[in-house]
Parts: sequence; structure tokens; C-alpha cells
Amino acid sequence: MIKKGILITLEGNEGCGKSTQIKLLCQYLRKEGHSVYLTREPGGTHIGNMIRRILLDPKNKEMLPACETLLYMASRAQLIEEVIVSKLNEGQVVLCDRWLDATLAYQGYGGGVDIGWIRNLGRVVTAGLTPKVTIFMDLPVLTGLKRAVSFKKADRMEQKKILFHKKVHAGYLAIARREHRRIRHLKIKADDTVWVVHEKIKKIVQHALSKNR
Ligand code: TMP
Repeated sequence: MIKKGILITLEGNEGCGKSTQIKLLCQYLRKEGHSVYLTREPGGTHIGNMIRRILLDPKNKEMLPACETLLYMASRAQLIEEVIVSKLNEGQVVLCDRWLDATLAYQGYGGGVDIGWIRNLGRVVTAGLTPKVTIFMDLPVLTGLKRAVSFKKADRMEQKKILFHKKVHAGYLAIARREHRRIRHLKIKADDTVWVVHEKIKKIVQHALSKNR
């Protein structure tokens, strides 16, 4: 039985399988009797979903890095205050597909936005709320990008150059090293099945939940 809420986030490059895995994890935890709230960034609220559409629309080519950063932060601010804080106070397991780490990796390491500025903004927007555990799904960049665009039209972020996505990946590695207590680095091979990855994620989350009692 969970006594208090816990925030768990998943991160990774494009096409790493994060969204599939977070859904499987949610189903598994619910079957185990946990009360689980599944959400994502950008999005997760009415306002956040509108911001998401602006951010991912390939037509918005002129969007500048600072504007992009602030829009991701705006969606996050709305999600945390409108939804996440209350779900955690209800004692739920909150699973969030991406978090502040994504802004550091994509806009900071990938887009060249000042990392210190992002961290400062992040502190304000998250009001100090940090995930208990973050799973960084590390699939080779090119494998992931090919997967991501194989089943849908590339969005504005996926359309960015390969060099950008390589910098994002390097950024995630740096963040995972810096915060190795919170971030679990899960290396994924191109031929790992969904179920192999699911089992690994289950183990990490079971451990986090057992420590949260
Ligand atoms: P998704 O593919 O995980 O739904 O995320 C949408 C895109 O937004 C993806 O390309 C990653 C990007 N992103 C950022 O660039 N910065 C952020 O802070 C977040 C949350 C996502």
C-alpha cells in the first residue's frame, strides 16, 4: 500500500519507446492495486495541450529558443499547479512522460539556451518538486529517430537536425551523471523487445515504491 504520493518520470530521445513503456507501467501498477495518475509534458491540461500544439506544429519554424523554453516551462507550470500537486497530496503514484530534464537536454544542451537560466526558471516553476526517480531510456539516436518518423509525420522537434538530437542525447548523459541518485540510466538495444524493457522498468519502479512506504 502506498502511503504517500510519488512522482516518477520517464525521459529519452525521440522514438525511445517512452510513451509505450509509461502506458504499460501504468497498467501494471494499477493491476497491482496502486492509484496511478498518468500525464505528460508538454500537455496534461487544457492550456498545456494548446501550448503543445504550438510547440510541435512544423509551421512554427520561426520560434526562437527562448520562446520555446518559456512555452515548455509554461505548460509545466500549469500542469504542476493544476494537477500534479493535488494528485500527490491524494497519495497517488504520478507518472509523467518528461519533466524539467527534457528542457535542460533539448533547449539547453541541444538548443544552446543558458543552462543556469533554465535551472533557475525550473526552480520557480516546479516549486522545488523533484521526481523520486527518473528513468532515462537510452536508445541510439538514429535508431530512435527512424522509429519516431516511421509511424507518423515528423513534428517540429523531430524535424530538427541530427546534430541537434545528438546534442540532446549528450545532454541527457550529462544530466544522468550529475544526478545519478535520481536518474536511472537504462541502456536499450535496438533489438530489445517492449517486454524486456518493461521488466527492467518494473524493477526500478518496484524498488522506488518499496522505499516510499
Ligand atoms: P514527446 O515526444 O515526449 O511527447 O515530447 C514532445 C517533444 O517535445 C519532444 O520532441 C521533446 C520535446 N520537449 C522539449 O524539447 N522540451 C521539454 O521541456 C519537453 C517536456 C519536451
